[in-house]
Amino acid sequence: MSTRTGYRAARRRFLAGGAAAAALAMLPSAGPPRAAAARELKLVAGPGRAHLVGAPYPDTPVWAYNDSVPGPVLRARQGERLRVVLNNALAEETTVHWHGLRVPNAMDGVPHLTQKPVAADGSFVYEFDLPDAGTYWYHPHQRSFEQVGRGLYGALVVEEHEPVEVDRELVWVLDDWRLVRDASISGDFGNMHDVSHNGRIGNTVTINGRIPDAVAVRRGERIRLRLINAANARIFGLRFDGHRPLIIAIDGQPVTPHEAPDDGVVIGPAMRMDLILDMTGAPGERFSVIDGFYRRRAYRLVELSYDRKPLRASPPDHAVELPANTMPEPESAQALRHEIVLGGGAMGSLRRASMEGRRVDIREMVHHGKAWAINGVVAAGHVMEPLLTLERGRTHILDIRNDSPWHHPMHLHGHSFRVLSRDGRPTRHREWQDTVMLAPRERVEIAFVADNPGDWMFHCHILEHQAGGMSSVVRVA
Ligand code: C2O
Ligand code: CU
Repeated sequence: MSTRTGYRAARRRFLAGGAAAAALAMLPSAGPPRAAAARELKLVAGPGRAHLVGAPYPDTPVWAYNDSVPGPVLRARQGERLRVVLNNALAEETTVHWHGLRVPNAMDGVPHLTQKPVAADGSFVYEFDLPDAGTYWYHPHQRSFEQVGRGLYGALVVEEHEPVEVDRELVWVLDDWRLVRDASISGDFGNMHDVSHNGRIGNTVTINGRIPDAVAVRRGERIRLRLINAANARIFGLRFDGHRPLIIAIDGQPVTPHEAPDDGVVIGPAMRMDLILDMTGAPGERFSVIDGFYRRRAYRLVELSYDRKPLRASPPDHAVELPANTMPEPESAQALRHEIVLGGGAMGSLRRASMEGRRVDIREMVHHGKAWAINGVVAAGHVMEPLLTLERGRTHILDIRNDSPWHHPMHLHGHSFRVLSRDGRPTRHREWQDTVMLAPRERVEIAFVADNPGDWMFHCHILEHQAGGMSSVVRVA
């Protein structure tokens, strides 16, 4: 039995115990996969119930994939082909977007732009190759501020051919819910205050669809922790008391392993972080994982609770660097530059903008539920004149300026990009990302080769900002 098989067996035991049991269906069966055959599975989007809070509170009515929040962890191996049959049991249209995956445009799940939305009782087949390993996720792109906010999301893990050696892998899908007293979801989706401020910040944070208590760990253990922020709007800044996590991937893409900064592992909406967590505490000890992103509102997310029995004296010391993925390297020398300005929001300076070809002032924008613009244009839906048309095969640099007093995690579909600089200073690791968060007034440069033809969304992933106009189309032709 190879080490790899042993690793997989260990993971199977872990998965069987968690909410991710549905992932078992996705695990490879005996024998090597046939190259041509796609790994097939079904997703049903529909109403369900979830134990978000636990006794004495009742279950929360949610919208869910396959009756579970999060939906099943979809697992496949790099180079495989995935085929997902979506059935829509919701009372409204939906789609599935494969966040961070470089899929063909027709598989991108953007209603009206890349496909007809899937009607209630309808279905759609998504099928695409998985060229890159990493931590990704899936969610609807139709009225996502409500559909994601009610629980439609799940993790998608593409395994490396040679994964880093760890004792255990954990997937934490983080979410933030706005619940009312009977633990049901507050129905005030898309209200103008959320749209014009920092989005729908909730009052109940869950890991894998539960308010977490403690995670059992053992001294000497090495854990790979895949973090996914599926919240509509909450930004997380996680500090692991007594531990020094190493960041090995951001948005699924390998990065030079480095320690998390003092203010913690910052994860904007839609972003992912892969960490190596070495368990260096003593048997019986407990440590807090603190989310301190919003100052004065820090809280304990979960505890790490050490078992009485150590696994070994100290964690192993294997290399943790991940192999690079398959993105073409941008060539800055011949790059074409494009300037992008993000404007609007409460306390911002945007006074007027253009919306569906008309000049409107901020009062009229608000009247239509809008508060944001990209290069002075307010998005009314998914289909619009392209913000940019990018020559295919060339390197493009987007120089993005946040002209607002709010954070914006900006997501580009169909591509990963390198983050070159922040406020004019080169980044240390030139991270590959698909979602880059801009702090208030921050300026960020990203670069990528536009190699995936089609019309791609470029939008803020605070879902209320997206709905409020901070969305655009980038055409690669
Ligand atoms: Cu995760 Cu356009 O979305
Ligand atoms: Cu935003």
